[in-house]
Amino acid sequence: MAGHQVIVGSRSLDRAVEAAKMIAQTAGRPVRVSGLTNENAVSQADVVVLTVPFTALLETLKTVKPSFKPGQVLVNVSVPLETAVGGRATRTVGVWAGSAGELAASVVPKMVSVVTAFNNVSAELLKDPSKRVDCDVLVCSNDDNAKRIVLDLVKSIEGAHGFDAGALENSRTVEQITALLVSLNIRYKVKNAGLRITGISHAS
Ligand SMILES: NC(=O)c1ccc[n+]([C@@H]2O[C@H](COP(=O)([O-])OP(=O)(O)OC[C@H]3O[C@@H](n4cnc5c(N)ncnc54)[C@H](OP(=O)(O)O)[C@@H]3O)[C@@H](O)[C@H]2O)c1
Repeated sequence: MAGHQVIVGSRSLDRAVEAAKMIAQTAGRPVRVSGLTNENAVSQADVVVLTVPFTALLETLKTVKPSFKPGQVLVNVSVPLETAVGGRATRTVGVWAGSAGELAASVVPKMVSVVTAFNNVSAELLKDPSKRVDCDVLVCSNDDNAKRIVLDLVKSIEGAHGFDAGALENSRTVEQITALLVSLNIRYKVKNAGLRITGISHAS
């Protein structure tokens, strides 16, 4: 909606093309969106956004690993919710690397900068252009330039404010907040509980 070129990746080209068509229809105005296999999507993108269930994180990254290019940014949105292994969405599983973001960083080539972002934003808000994204975005990375690129992308989303939330290690805390938001969703019977940071006037 903000004019960026978007490529939807999937394990299946047909599903990717179908998802891209659905997004174009939902937008209700001309948008630059197409569908490709995960491998081809990664080879063509500047910023790669990973949104798979936690149990698929390693397998997905290993599949696309040869497609990464120097200077790319990988944004990890995946959260290690217990649901990925048959448990509750209100809890996370322990990740040996510390967090899903750090696990992603441990498997992608070193030339790729890993950023944590959007983990606390409900897909219910993002998929419906008539809804305002009433949620802030905590952005963590060890690469300040990559963080800046993602903070600029957050500015494209009306209603969302991006905050530099420090090093990639802070993903451990950010990912836990998602489980808490799911718990609030259940308690208050909503689908889009979100997060607002107050007291900082210079949000990026
Ligand atoms: N939904 C939300 O509101 C939300 C908010 C914040 C964070 N997150 C996190 O974002 C991630 C994705 O959430 P989601 O709700 O979009 O999940 P989802 O709908 O279950 O999965 C997203 C996509 O991942 C691919 N996938 C599923 N299983 C896979 C497998 N075993 N191996 C490889 N790819 C697989 C599928 O794409 P193809 O079949 O087309 O390959 C699927 O369409 C999760 O880690 C979640 O915790 C979600």
